[in-house]
Amino acid sequence: MSAASSDLPRRPPTSVHVELGSRSYDILIGRDLIDTVGHELAQRLPKARMAIVTDETVAEHHLNRLTASLDFADIEYVTIVVPPGEGSKSFAALETVIEALLEARIERNDVVLAFGGGVVGDLAGFAAGTVLRGIRFVQLPTTLLAQVDSSIGGKTGINTTHGKNLVGVFHQPSFVLSDSGILDSLPEREFNAGYAEVAKCGLIGAPDFFTWLESNWRAVAAGWPEREQAIASACRAKAAIVAADERESGVRALLNFGHTFGHALEASAGYNGRLLHGEGVSIGMVLAFGLSAKLGHCKPEDVKRVVAHLKDVGLPTRISEIPGGGFDVDALMGLMAQDKKVSRGKLTFILVKGIGRAFIAKDVPVETVKEFLSEQMR
Ligand SMILES: NC(=O)c1ccc[n+]([C@@H]2O[C@H](COP(=O)([O-])OP(=O)(O)OC[C@H]3O[C@@H](n4cnc5c(N)ncnc54)[C@H](O)[C@@H]3O)[C@@H](O)[C@H]2O)c1
Ligand SMILES: [Zn+2]
Repeated sequence: MSAASSDLPRRPPTSVHVELGSRSYDILIGRDLIDTVGHELAQRLPKARMAIVTDETVAEHHLNRLTASLDFADIEYVTIVVPPGEGSKSFAALETVIEALLEARIERNDVVLAFGGGVVGDLAGFAAGTVLRGIRFVQLPTTLLAQVDSSIGGKTGINTTHGKNLVGVFHQPSFVLSDSGILDSLPEREFNAGYAEVAKCGLIGAPDFFTWLESNWRAVAAGWPEREQAIASACRAKAAIVAADERESGVRALLNFGHTFGHALEASAGYNGRLLHGEGVSIGMVLAFGLSAKLGHCKPEDVKRVVAHLKDVGLPTRISEIPGGGFDVDALMGLMAQDKKVSRGKLTFILVKGIGRAFIAKDVPVETVKEFLSEQMR
């Protein structure tokens, strides 16, 4: 435990329930929860052996606290460490993890602990969903993005040469435990990238939460207790959407707000650290607001308010801010068409009628998007 965090009073964790019938689970959020994870596991998943999957960076910073907590609860475990970064969402890394699980003679009652960011969560969740035709797993997310987004909802998978997240399974975790203090070691740029997904929750359906963020974002970055409050609000928003539409046949698509533009920018930038996912989402959300205004769905003042907040936080809001440049309208249009499937010259987009009022628009003309992007890149 760090000296700073041990000085803070312990509070009971905030619990958010994800209602999915027999696949329902809880998300526990609180400072220093990692020190009690052994106790939670012993209570909730008795007699199971654990396989910790993590990456080198997370292992270096925090693995000893996790293993100390498992040792204290007399839980047996093995540890599987993969290199950090998007490159680990690959067939090769999946094979490494699955071989290691089998080598450890993992059994049906055993549990995979995904201890890391979205990369580890997606990879370990996929391995857990397929090894022995599916064993249980627990998400212990260590990035802000993973705590508010990727650890919830059961989407798991890896990337292929044809694109991101094209192979995977829906596999819901048994529970999620988010230690908000563990984010203290996260680089500021990674924290901000995750913050884009927090702001997204306000922008798609919770206008009061967005207003709260406008006044409290500094405290969220600083830590306890606003950070927990923001994580819990974002988790509640995502949990409600996932409960309503687990397999994304409708409303879950709203979570892709800012992502059609964002994914195209990320793919164009080349997944080499030049543009983090959340940074692409930040610019993508501004573009989605701008396009909504151009189409007469929302007011220009709404766009200004969103830009002002994301800028305050330190997130990029324009394509021209991406280091290295080189973005091209036709290339971006091609990537968006691939992502979204154009049907008769129309694209499906998540647009907004104002802050907190997102909707699915299935009939956005390709030409309008192209014209809009050309204006943005001038
Ligand atoms: N499954 C879903 O629903 C879903 C949703 C959104 C995003 N994703 C996926 O999530 C991935 C991105 O996740 P991410 O942003 O967490 O990236 P990440 O897992 O690569 O983590 C970012 C970096 O931070 C490091 N790190 C993690 N925790 C740390 C800590 N506490 N202290 C210091 N360093 C730490 C990692 O080692 C890594 O280098 C993408 O692959 C994306 O596709 C999945
Ligand atoms: Zn995202």
